Amino acid sequence: MDKHKVLQILINLISNAKYALDAGGLPQKILTLRVRREHDMACILVIDNGIGIAAENLTKIFSYGFTTHKNGHGFGLHGGALAAKALDGSLSVQSEGPGKGATFTLKIPSQPADEPSRGTLRLPQHERFQAALIQS
Ligand SMILES: Nc1ncnc2c1ncn2[C@@H]1O[C@H](COP(=O)(O)OP(=O)(O)OP(=O)(O)O)[C@@H](O)[C@H]1O
Ligand SMILES: [Mg+2]
Repeated sequence: MDKHKVLQILINLISNAKYALDAGGLPQKILTLRVRREHDMACILVIDNGIGIAAENLTKIFSYGFTTHKNGHGFGLHGGALAAKALDGSLSVQSEGPGKGATFTLKIPSQPADEPSRGTLRLPQHERFQAALIQS
């Protein structure tokens, strides 16, 4: 599997989250990364408590060229969703609305670490990982 592609998707998600946190203006900005396995998929969640996304924009943000960022191009999520699909995975979003933060979920085929495979992301069977970055 192309680790480089996964990394590229994650870098955009984290950079978007940082933008959303700055725009959200909460005194305590929290970016959480969560990794868990769901059956044969590795799920990577990038969660922020930033500016949030209006319901009508939840699908638009994946269109090529959609951006609200000052120096944005609107390529990141579009390319990320296509790349995830090409890896037999998916990229999805959830937000309760403006001011309510956002959660992006990247799912990529995964096999247990003791079954090495070149084609998939390897995660130990029951391992969960969570890290939160808090800036106040
Ligand atoms: N975590 C988030 N919270 C709120 N809105 C978001 C978040 N992530 C993305 N968005 C919205 O989706 C839009 C598209 O994101 P996308 O990554 O595709 O492009 P971009 O960041 O604007 O530009 P770039 O091409 O440099 O990535 C953003 O401009 C923003 O409006
Ligand atoms: Mg982006």
